[in-house]
Amino acid sequence: MYYKQRTRTCGELREEHIGENVVLNGWVSTRRDLGGVIFIEVRDRYGITQVVFEPHFNESAHHEGKVLRGEYVVSIEGIVRKRPEGTENVSLTTGAIDVLVNKVVLLNAAKTTPFAIQDDIDVHEDLRLKYRYLDLRRPRMQQSLIMRHRMYQIARDYFDAHNFIEVETPVLMKSTPEGARDFLVPSRMHKGKFYALPQSPQQYKQLLMVAGIDRYFQIVKCFRDEDLRADRQPEFTQIDVEMSFVDQEQIFEIVEGLMTRFFKEVWNKEISTPLPRLTFDEAMERYGSDKPDLRFDLEMTTLNTVFANSTFRVFRDSIDKGGIISGFVVPGCGDYTRNQLDALTDFVKKLGGGGLIWIRVKEEGLEAPTMKFLTPEEQADLTLKLNAKPGDLLLILTGSKHKTLSLAGMLRLEMARRLDLIKKDSDPKLLWVIDFPLFEWDEDTKRFYAMHHPFTSPRLEDVEFMESDPGHVKARAYDLVLNGSEIAGGSIRIHDSELQSLMFKSLGISDEEAQEKFGFLMNAFQYGAPPHGGIAFGFDRLAMIFAGENSIRDVIAFPKTASGMSLMDECPSPVSEEQLKELHIRLRG
Ligand code: AMO
Repeated sequence: MYYKQRTRTCGELREEHIGENVVLNGWVSTRRDLGGVIFIEVRDRYGITQVVFEPHFNESAHHEGKVLRGEYVVSIEGIVRKRPEGTENVSLTTGAIDVLVNKVVLLNAAKTTPFAIQDDIDVHEDLRLKYRYLDLRRPRMQQSLIMRHRMYQIARDYFDAHNFIEVETPVLMKSTPEGARDFLVPSRMHKGKFYALPQSPQQYKQLLMVAGIDRYFQIVKCFRDEDLRADRQPEFTQIDVEMSFVDQEQIFEIVEGLMTRFFKEVWNKEISTPLPRLTFDEAMERYGSDKPDLRFDLEMTTLNTVFANSTFRVFRDSIDKGGIISGFVVPGCGDYTRNQLDALTDFVKKLGGGGLIWIRVKEEGLEAPTMKFLTPEEQADLTLKLNAKPGDLLLILTGSKHKTLSLAGMLRLEMARRLDLIKKDSDPKLLWVIDFPLFEWDEDTKRFYAMHHPFTSPRLEDVEFMESDPGHVKARAYDLVLNGSEIAGGSIRIHDSELQSLMFKSLGISDEEAQEKFGFLMNAFQYGAPPHGGIAFGFDRLAMIFAGENSIRDVIAFPKTASGMSLMDECPSPVSEEQLKELHIRLRG
């Protein structure tokens, strides 16, 4: 079929083009037949232009225009004219003009789509995912993909300008599970053996430092077989970075430079650097989270000193067991009803908390059923410590330290949600969280795990306690947090094989196991490994926040559902007996 290639895009025409003969190619977005005159909006990636079929202007074109329906693919030729007075559309960039059609070529018809191709439609996400190619036709989705593309370009340009080189690392690698579960790929040529998909290129980028690459980056897919949430996907993208001969400060400087460019070029916002820093301990104590959202206050306060001599059983128990009492003020909620307070208590209990102590602050003093257990001095101290004012609500949690702080942090976020404290236009809050613990204790398996990964260096002053008091050793690890979301994480690495062995030992990984799993890395460290460190951005999360979306699925072209399915091509899917046989796999049951 003969058709003319476009001379303009659908987002391009303005008043200055009036009188021009143009060809547009695109999709029929909307169609109105006003008895005689047909108005059609033609859409492409660049925008929407109204075209008009007028029988008096061109009768045969008007006749051909009658068959057009939503999502038909068309080539339109016509004359740009000023829209008649009063019919301009200010919501379209092309809204001052329309195109009087002389010729239309139907390039392809389309079935009726399962949902309208426009923004702000109320359609179940599953349907959007099944017909993702239609969903991606919506202007908002296209804008997100374009923004994501811009961010790739900014990152590449930035790292290139700072002497980093982009190196691709393998997608089929050795399975070294530590952290999340690996996705496995069976080998046909080596019966009973498997590749794994990388959870991150961590070991490769360290080997690149041993290789003398000095500054590496890669925009790379990572794979983790873990339970999914709105900000997690089984395959996701990192901007992965590693540098030699650096400490934390140089890595921060590089990252802050990139963030400055993202803020400026995507949001047109300035940020001031160096960025604020909170230690992990501070972040937990003040915000109950290692990724604190600082867009609102509701800051927590540790109240152990106020209740050091308390006879109130709940507080007494906590203090005697080395636990914590933590509380925060919710301004203006002192008139919460019993029902509202019960709902908050339920919220805490559902998350595994023992309960919630709430106190209404009145002109006359503190009011709550628990007040009879507190002395007047304790009540006065509490009011003073929290700077509580009449009309406020106080929320207090107590129990073992980490759990209580985490629960209080979740309650803090819940209150922010209920009170709508985070506005669409709230100033973004970007900060570093530093000094993470090196190890994390797991109650179920009764052993320590590396909080970041086993290649992260302890703070040098803490090395001597790695065996005697692992719980108190801090790591040279850091996270970058934007609006309460962990957008990047990294560390200074261990670069000497002796310290690496000690690390494995502390993690309960035997020499043989370490040799089998990570031998290649430890061997490499014996041939002159430079001091090095790095970081990886969760690129999808970053793009999600910059696009103002709530789910990373909205900034990924073809994402999986929360249960790891791709609804469009229906994977994971069964495979043939033949294929399994070749891979030496027999399914059980
Ligand atoms: P980490 O495991 O912290 O570090 O990952 C880095 C960043 O990747 C993002 N992220 C995810 N995004 C989407 N879906 C997921 N399932 C997912 N898991 C993680 C987060 C996180 O901050 N190799 C180290 C980095 C290093 O030490 O240099 C690593 O992978 O935003």
